[in-house]
Amino acid sequence: MTPKTFKIKSFGCQMNVYDGERMGELLAAEGMAAATDSEDADLVVLNTCHIREKAAEKAYSDIGRLRREDGSKPLIALAGCVAQAEGTEAKRRSPMIDLVVGPQAYHRLPEMIAEAARGGRPVDTDMPALSKFDLLPARRRATPSAYLTVQEGCDKFCTYCVVPYTRGAEVSRPWEDIIAEAHALVGGGAREIVLLGQNVNAWTDGARGLAELIRELATIDGLERIRYTTSHPADMTDALIAAHGEVEKLMPYLHLPVQSGSDRILKAMNRSHTTDTYLRLLEQMRGTRPDIALSGDFIVGFPGETEADFEATLQIVDAVRYAAAYSFKYSARPGTPAAVMEDQIPRDVMEDRLRRLHERINIHQLAFNAGKVGVDTQILIERAGRRDGQMIGKSPWLQSVHVDTDARPGEILDVTLVSAGPQSMAGAVRERIAA
Ligand code: 5AD
Ligand code: SF4
Repeated sequence: MTPKTFKIKSFGCQMNVYDGERMGELLAAEGMAAATDSEDADLVVLNTCHIREKAAEKAYSDIGRLRREDGSKPLIALAGCVAQAEGTEAKRRSPMIDLVVGPQAYHRLPEMIAEAARGGRPVDTDMPALSKFDLLPARRRATPSAYLTVQEGCDKFCTYCVVPYTRGAEVSRPWEDIIAEAHALVGGGAREIVLLGQNVNAWTDGARGLAELIRELATIDGLERIRYTTSHPADMTDALIAAHGEVEKLMPYLHLPVQSGSDRILKAMNRSHTTDTYLRLLEQMRGTRPDIALSGDFIVGFPGETEADFEATLQIVDAVRYAAAYSFKYSARPGTPAAVMEDQIPRDVMEDRLRRLHERINIHQLAFNAGKVGVDTQILIERAGRRDGQMIGKSPWLQSVHVDTDARPGEILDVTLVSAGPQSMAGAVRERIAA
């Protein structure tokens, strides 16, 4: 039976969220209707993440849960990075999967769904040079803060990471396509655009880099805020740092993962920076934009990580005073060099280190937020809060700010930040700026 309704469930990073939105637009353009719940959907697309084992295993446990009480099941499409990594093997592991579509092939979803509805079990994990983006419908509606993928893939080959295998080599979308999509998003209601890429700051069209792209986007009327994520220290150019001092719409927030504070571990990870070059980059950034909120990613328990290596990680957290940071237990990924390294770290040691790292990061997050109490700033309203009459918006430093207001998503409000927690702030409205 040809499906009439669909549900897309995206896991993992923002790039998957973006892909999920575009798949939804594609299916809607084919005449299918979005279902609120997978229970009511004829087709469920699981847009999966492969970065750590737990995320990848979740894909399979979710598939099992799609079996309904009467024994029936929706048509099931496995999409995203698990689909790319496992391909045909995924179909063997779970007979419930009807089709497997990788992140570079989802423009083919309609024809693959038709084939699956006829009883076929198509798999497409090709990574064609031809851009899928050209084959997707134009964008019409957007959230106040909208994602825009400008770059995909990674050539860095950190030894723990599957991304170079699941998302392929670094590819940048053409300048004109990005500008056109940005205009469409702003026309559809976006006031902030978050440029996305596994290595977003490696974006280039041969002549220009991300800094020039941001300067051009900043000229779009109605677009008030620009952000980008995730960046690699190796591609942090002087031009991009300079843009932070000059482009008003570029928000004072930088996510720049370091992964470890130990140079020995950074080398084993094949990160191209040392703690010293990383800290100097951040110093340069703070020289240009003193109030910038810095965020990062950390892996604890990389093979061979000693207590001293881990303490060096705690030290770099103290040195940077991150406004936000994300930390993960090392997860051995099939096919990556680190998976076969000696001296894999026991689970209980990893758990203990993760807990200690969380504590340290929390102290700095709270201190950063507390340092903003009393500050007058603007927030972009994104959604309703838990209490009646409460809305949640984002500050320039990407803090979630709770305010009592009847303002709608997409409005920008003048607020005073009045109190701080480790994960969010409370604000009081001063006045409303034109929507
Ligand atoms: N194990 C644990 N964390 C990982 N990351 C990437 N690969 C792994 C892995 N094998 C983390 C890194 C990266 C973030 C997106 O996920 O910190 O920056
Ligand atoms: Fe993975 Fe390293 Fe590339 Fe980031 S830079 S996607 S961690 S290989």
